[in-house]
Amino acid sequence: MTAASVMVALVGAVPSAVLAEAAQAETRPVVRKAPRWTVVQPLVIAHRGASGYRPEHTLAAYRLAIQMGADYVEPDLVSTKDGFLVARHENEISGTTDVASRPEFAALRTMKVIDGVALTGWFTEDFTLAQLKTLRAVERIPLLRPGNAAYDGQFEVPTLQEVIDLVRFESRRTKRTIGIYPETKHPTYFDSVGLSLEEPLVRTLRRNGLAGRHAPVFVQSFETTNLRELSRMIQVPLVQLLGQPMQVPYDLVAAGMPRTYSQLATPVDLAEIATYADGVGPEKSYVLPRNPDGSLGEPTSFVDDAHEADLLVHAYTFRAENVFLPTDYRIGTDLTACGDYAGEVTAYLESGLDGLFADHPDLAVAARDAFVAATESGERAAS
Ligand code: G3P
Ligand code: CA
Repeated sequence: MTAASVMVALVGAVPSAVLAEAAQAETRPVVRKAPRWTVVQPLVIAHRGASGYRPEHTLAAYRLAIQMGADYVEPDLVSTKDGFLVARHENEISGTTDVASRPEFAALRTMKVIDGVALTGWFTEDFTLAQLKTLRAVERIPLLRPGNAAYDGQFEVPTLQEVIDLVRFESRRTKRTIGIYPETKHPTYFDSVGLSLEEPLVRTLRRNGLAGRHAPVFVQSFETTNLRELSRMIQVPLVQLLGQPMQVPYDLVAAGMPRTYSQLATPVDLAEIATYADGVGPEKSYVLPRNPDGSLGEPTSFVDDAHEADLLVHAYTFRAENVFLPTDYRIGTDLTACGDYAGEVTAYLESGLDGLFADHPDLAVAARDAFVAATESGERAAS
């Protein structure tokens, strides 16, 4: 059974003539149609790997996520100076590598404006891959995840190709197809410095036989322009991420068309997203907002609206520690301790999610499996 063919089955395939036309028509309006999906069971996507247990975006984090049963692993992607795609959440790497302690790279510390925000530090686009490979990953939130910090200094920054190689190896070993869920980070910025992310991403996917409509791949982005561009370059499913409601995708800021994410989440705009993407990746509050006291609120119409537009819904980010949980799902007063994660995940699954991004894939898989079993047993009892 494969993640692509079993977990999510494409039942309303786009006509091949349309796909072929779309692949060639890079400058014409998008003609891609939203597919109809049958979700056999919601996907567990390992957010930055098993980032609740290992420093994020390392092969160790991805490997552990696969061992824990994740269906997909998620590498966020940025570029090196020599055009290699590497897995980091942002191009400024002082928070997730030991670069600040490397005197040989002291001269590369600089200030840049990324997506309108001034940042001082070290940036992947100033490092060749060979230089970046001498760095070692460190835990982003060591006070909250001291167990992860015990692995500081052990792991390299992986390339996209290394992530694909690992996933392929583990798929063979475990006899199940694990998918990859790459995200292009800061695409407008990388375009502006001559290191466009889309072409090397597409090349890499094609080289690995992962560019087809049924490849176990989703490509995601918080920006819109690059997803529209990708929809004309490649057939893999695309996912439009939706950030905090009042934020604006940076490509729209740069283009002088500031539409907020909440404006992109209306039924009309979801239908527009469905012309170039296959799913949406909302921040969790679009689905179940929190009440003023921090407890979990009632479902919105978002999932129904997205499904009405034939869009899958993969929400982010599910983290087990109390500090991240709604107040009514916390256990005890230690904010770093794990709370009722299964309860939160189940509440979201009941709202109709098709997948979720999880820092703790083992707990998310257990909650998902229990939810599916309970649903099936309820259906049997009702029939
Ligand atoms: O891509 C889904 C989720 O990962 C988005 O948030 O900031 O962790 O990339 P972020
Ligand atoms: Ca991400």
